[in-house]
Amino acid sequence: MRRIVPCLCCAAAVLLVSGCADLKNSLPNPVTPGPVVHAEGWNDPGNTAAFHGTYLKQHAWNLSTCKSCHGGTFAGGNSTVSCFPCHDAYPHEVKFSKSGNGSHVLYLRTKSYPLNDCKACHGDDYFGGTAAQTQVSCGQAQCHATLSGTPKSPEACNTCHGQFHGSANDTASWAPPVSLNNDTLSSARGVGAHQLHLGGTGLTSTTSVQCGGCHSVPASLYARGHFDTPGPARVSLTIPLASTPSGGLTPSPTYDAQTLKCANTYCHGSWQLLKSNPLTFNNFYSDSIMTGSFAAPKWNGGSGEAPCGSCHGLPPKGHIDASLDQCAGCHIGVVNTSGQIIDKSKHINGKANVFNQELSFK
Ligand code: HEC
Ligand code: HEC
Ligand code: HEC
Ligand code: HEC
Ligand code: HEC
Ligand code: HEC
Ligand code: HEC
Repeated sequence: MRRIVPCLCCAAAVLLVSGCADLKNSLPNPVTPGPVVHAEGWNDPGNTAAFHGTYLKQHAWNLSTCKSCHGGTFAGGNSTVSCFPCHDAYPHEVKFSKSGNGSHVLYLRTKSYPLNDCKACHGDDYFGGTAAQTQVSCGQAQCHATLSGTPKSPEACNTCHGQFHGSANDTASWAPPVSLNNDTLSSARGVGAHQLHLGGTGLTSTTSVQCGGCHSVPASLYARGHFDTPGPARVSLTIPLASTPSGGLTPSPTYDAQTLKCANTYCHGSWQLLKSNPLTFNNFYSDSIMTGSFAAPKWNGGSGEAPCGSCHGLPPKGHIDASLDQCAGCHIGVVNTSGQIIDKSKHINGKANVFNQELSFK
């Protein structure tokens, strides 16, 4: 494919705006007679003076002169030499679709995020690299940067999911929203009840569940299991509170990726208490067993999936009769007489809080 006529541009002359001589002069070194068009060093990154990258950099990345021989789509054209076997992503104008500024996102996602391919030109830290590299930084304001303009590596844990402009160290901002598909509503499966569990408003507990409570968290970007397998994201409910034993029952929490429902979590009412347990206040039972509601909330069903009374009755099944305004009289400090949780640290904490005592479930 290197065997070409001395002045290849003559063959393509009809296509060229400029003449053959102009084109030759626009190359870093005049085209030498012979089968090779470009001069020595054109493809040697070590030869910074003659290297084609340096040339383009010095010419404001103007690719139009290359198109005449390498083709309008840089796939080879008359030269039959495509740019892409050497750097698949560049020239970007062909590889990244023009629709929307998320275009390189789609390119990367389709290819399982080959971010290392970007480093050659954007720098090992993605912030432009050395002068010999392109000095095109990903961390420019509005791009990969916090709202206050601090540059962020594209490898930050909130780049592809979570809050893109959030601080790289803000763990809660790693989780959706925003989802991988750019969804922000909790009705989207990628968003769901993330922020509620991570300590957002509406949660009736202070026990915020970290990522590791529901996922096996990748130790690094390219760790096995992160995005090397097709979605949906893997969910494994391992937070100890979810399987707190009670009354001889140890819940085994599950998540069903078909129905998007959680089941069998202590938190959503998979608990029971036995009146026969000598450590309990057994006068407060209407039955031999008191149970939660064993709720199976839908991940993307919104806050309506876990209203007051969904995880356990008001009062629970098997509990002596009581009205909502009466709970506070015995479950002192947990709820008020309006039935509102007043101390989240005592609610959904794995303990029964009653008469100012904290009892472990047995
Ligand atoms: C035979 C392989 C090869 C082909 C074909 C090729 N390049 Fe390159 N290109 C490289 C290498 C190697 C680098 C340097 C990457 C690095 O810095 O590690 C590079 C870097 C570049 C750079 C970045 C410059 C810099 O300073 O780092 C640009 C721009 C570029 N190429 C444009 C093109 C265009 C446009 C085409 C097609 C017309 C093309 N290249 C075809 C191998 C190739
Ligand atoms: C006059 C036609 C012509 C123009 C204009 C042209 N090329 Fe080429 N290019 C070729 C041909 C033919 C080859 C294969 C023979 C060779 O390597 O010289 C080639 C090869 C290359 C190679 C691979 C070199 C190697 O050793 O494998 C790179 C990189 C390259 N061109 C980049 C560019 C860039 C970048 C531009 C625009 C600044 C450009 N070319 C403009 C015709 C052209
Ligand atoms: C061969 C060098 C080279 C490689 C490899 C490269 N880039 Fe670039 N990139 C550039 C240059 C030069 C510019 C600025 C001019 C332009 O847009 O072509 C740029 C600009 C960009 C822009 C800004 C585009 C805009 O419209 O402002 C994005 C986004 C980008 N690159 C992403 C990537 C990603 C993602 C990769 C890896 C998959 C990558 N680049 C690999 C050279 C490269
Ligand atoms: C209460 C359990 C829970 C917690 C805590 C949790 N996740 Fe998730 N996560 C899920 C569920 C459920 C899904 C949806 C899986 C599906 O699509 O079937 C999910 C999906 C995801 C997805 C895929 C999003 C998409 O667009 O498809 C990402 C990324 C993710 N979680 C990251 C995190 C991170 C990072 C954290 C910690 C900051 C976290 N999660 C905390 C349960 C949780
Ligand atoms: C380059 C994009 C990208 C970056 C950066 C990224 N992730 Fe992800 N992450 C994904 C994709 C894609 C998925 C969905 C995987 C799936 O559907 O199986 C995902 C899923 C997850 C999940 C859900 C569980 C799983 O593996 O499916 C967690 C937790 C997570 N990422 C944590 C992190 C952490 C921690 C970091 C920072 C070290 C990080 N992510 C950086 C793309 C990224
Ligand atoms: C997401 C599930 C869930 C929701 C929603 C929920 N609870 Fe609970 N609640 C529990 C669990 C689990 C316990 C078991 C004790 C523990 O772990 O603190 C509990 C215990 C209690 C107790 C006993 C005191 C204690 O904490 O031991 C009272 C009183 C109570 N809840 C009232 C309410 C009221 C009132 C509401 C609505 C405002 C409500 N709960 C909503 C899960 C829930
Ligand atoms: C007269 C006192 C009294 C009233 C009123 C009362 N409870 Fe209880 N409740 C108890 C006692 C005592 C226990 C613990 C039984 C045991 O030791 O096994 C208990 C247990 C519970 C439990 C399960 C274990 C725990 O503490 O988390 C829940 C949930 C609960 N009550 C909710 C309620 C709700 C909701 C109301 C109001 C609708 C309410 N209770 C009203 C005395 C009361």
